[in-house]
Amino acid sequence: MAQQQQRLGTLVFYSDFDDFGAWQKALQAQLPDLKVVHSSALERPEDVHYAMVWKPPEGFFQQMPNLRLIVNLGAGVDALVSRSDLPAGIPITRITDPNMSRMMAGYVLFAVLRHARDIPHFEQAQRRGEWAYRHPRSPEEIAVAVLGLGHLGAMAASEVQRQGFRTLGWSRSQRLIEGVECFSGIETLDTVLGQADIVVLMLPLTPHTKGLFDRARLERLRPGAAFVNVARGALVDQAALTALLQSGHIGSATLDVFEREPLPADDPLWGIPQVLITPHLASVAIPSSSARQIAANILRVAEGEEPMDVVDPGRGY
Ligand code: GLV
Repeated sequence: MAQQQQRLGTLVFYSDFDDFGAWQKALQAQLPDLKVVHSSALERPEDVHYAMVWKPPEGFFQQMPNLRLIVNLGAGVDALVSRSDLPAGIPITRITDPNMSRMMAGYVLFAVLRHARDIPHFEQAQRRGEWAYRHPRSPEEIAVAVLGLGHLGAMAASEVQRQGFRTLGWSRSQRLIEGVECFSGIETLDTVLGQADIVVLMLPLTPHTKGLFDRARLERLRPGAAFVNVARGALVDQAALTALLQSGHIGSATLDVFEREPLPADDPLWGIPQVLITPHLASVAIPSSSARQIAANILRVAEGEEPMDVVDPGRGY
């Protein structure tokens, strides 16, 4: 035991959003001999071999000369890989947990159904005390485009397809998902956008995708189309999105992510009735189901092996 503890060393935790106690419990259930310490209580940084982090402060890793693994406490690694203070040569892994994908797919399905069933229209009518019948459309008459087909996007696209929607998928490299019309490459993006009644953004934020949804591209959406963003705010020109929602070119939106978070109190998006705003929680890392994957990687690193699910910082995901 003592030997294993010595071999495994210490994991340091940093996140302003996640529950340290829950993660500590889940990790120690997998690896009883791993010491799991919150960064605020860290006394011996030289003992740290593993860091599990979400947006740690500048210079966080510099005090840890024996670091062997950085675990990103989430699916998107953009905030981590774009830092200039990352220690060289230390692998970064991300969480790929089917339960996290399912939580995301649930949110996407909710957002798609919200738009497909005209719920923003009924919500506004209710506020006016109005019985505003609108005949429901059948799902196969509605095309949903899921942009980004990684772990999260692929599961969301499958769930959307299972509900009977015509489902289009778009990604950088070609994917094959049963029942989903998959497209790849930047040259097909506008064609996909032009066919969709509901567009769901699930792309990673990388130098290639930053600002990809500028005004010209947003104007490619069909008049009245719905827009869902569960990925990153910086993929989109938010001022252009706001203007197109105000003009009605984009009919409605469900937005979980923004250029600036928290979304400032005076942002015009708050006041647009057909926009639903949620505070970046479409999916979160789940200790009970992710700990096994993280523990397996810790053991691999302790044995001198390469961890699984390593992020390619050059590619950005
Ligand atoms: C949340 O946005 C995540 O990347 O996990």
